[in-house]
Amino acid sequence: MSESVVIRPLEKPLRGSIRVPGDKSISHRAVLLSAMAEGTSQIRGVLDSDDVRSSIRVVQQLGAQVNLQIMPDGSLEGAITGWGAKGPSQPDGPLDCGNSGTTARLLMGILAPWGIEAELTGDESLARRPMQRVMTPLSRMGARFSPQDAQTLPITERGTGRLDPITYESPVASAQLKTAVLLAGLSADGETRVIEPAPSRNHTELMLPAFGAETTAATRVASVKGPVTLRATDVVVPGDPSSAAFLLCAAALCPGSAIQVEGVSLNPARIGFLRTLEHMGVNASRRSDGAKGKELSGILSVEYCDRLHGCEVPAEKIATVIDEVPILALVAAHAKGVTVFRGADELRVKETDRAAAVIEGLALMGIDAWMDGSDLFIEGDPMFSTSAGLRFDAKGDHRLAMTWAVAGLCGANPIEIQGFDAVSVSYPGFLDDIRMLAR
Ligand code: S3P
Repeated sequence: MSESVVIRPLEKPLRGSIRVPGDKSISHRAVLLSAMAEGTSQIRGVLDSDDVRSSIRVVQQLGAQVNLQIMPDGSLEGAITGWGAKGPSQPDGPLDCGNSGTTARLLMGILAPWGIEAELTGDESLARRPMQRVMTPLSRMGARFSPQDAQTLPITERGTGRLDPITYESPVASAQLKTAVLLAGLSADGETRVIEPAPSRNHTELMLPAFGAETTAATRVASVKGPVTLRATDVVVPGDPSSAAFLLCAAALCPGSAIQVEGVSLNPARIGFLRTLEHMGVNASRRSDGAKGKELSGILSVEYCDRLHGCEVPAEKIATVIDEVPILALVAAHAKGVTVFRGADELRVKETDRAAAVIEGLALMGIDAWMDGSDLFIEGDPMFSTSAGLRFDAKGDHRLAMTWAVAGLCGANPIEIQGFDAVSVSYPGFLDDIRMLAR
């Protein structure tokens, strides 16, 4: 049942330090690579959310043994024993990927080298998202899908023990697509390469060497050499910068605020939003405090800014802010002048059409936003504030739910959000964390 929640304006500024839950992308990879590996991996700091639970559920159906506990800080920690060289077992029913595009697309690559037949399904939102982009390269490697021309789930995959390595020029910068091909490539005899139009997040390339697989990564090219069986290892997941972004953007908008988020991934492919805030005039900073494996981690800080101005995010940087565009668009709505996100087409195929949803939500508040070709424009108004009686629809999308929540928290009137419970996909404790910072 989708829940409607009323969000009231903050009575106090956001102040102090906080940690956010584990990174969603890295948590998926920790679970999935451990499930593929020979032996028992120990994983820590894993995000406990609906999306990651989808990955956990499907690897259990495929024969991995998962023994994770919920820790006092809400993270998941424990052991996963993978199927290793013997491969996954034939599942006894469909593999339900829930709302998780990462689970579905990475799984397609993981299943490609094995002679089992598996049907992949997902919820209403996932069942509308494009899957051909992953099926095309995997089919070229030898995997079979039915229906062959299916664009969306449900799709049945049959793998093969004789995958061919490929060099794939991807038409989109997508870490899910890249990862699916690389994970399949681990079982192909030779080098599998993915060339992207712009670099997407590189968590897979950074994590694979710990599992014993050689990877190379140049700016737009990632490759693996197969065949190789992954070997169990230990993974510690840093905090999620995409979750931190909602707290940090709220701080930029709420007078008197100054916050730090600790233990967050500082992967450059993920903190483009901080650079964007800086370009808008926000006093923001990052400080490294070490690394979790090959992932840099550290502290992100942001202060309230009363002089926001519009800025331009070029197409070659859009992948580094793609999950943060909705919340950055809300910040842009408060800025003087126009902000443009170039090459933002991918927004149309996220959990919902985020370009349309952002334009619609901002229009409700009287802010003009529009798409021109692939570019998203927002005409800000520094005097703007929320009027009474606003009602937003999260459209089943966690990042929209949190974006409209920040509009309410930093606005002048209570607002209502239909379907706010979508936050459980990536950041179930979002409102609790906001309350903690506003004490
Ligand atoms: C993700 C990659 C991105 C991102 C998504 C998670 C991942 O999608 O938007 O939330 O974990 O690989 P694309 O692969 O479409 O870029």
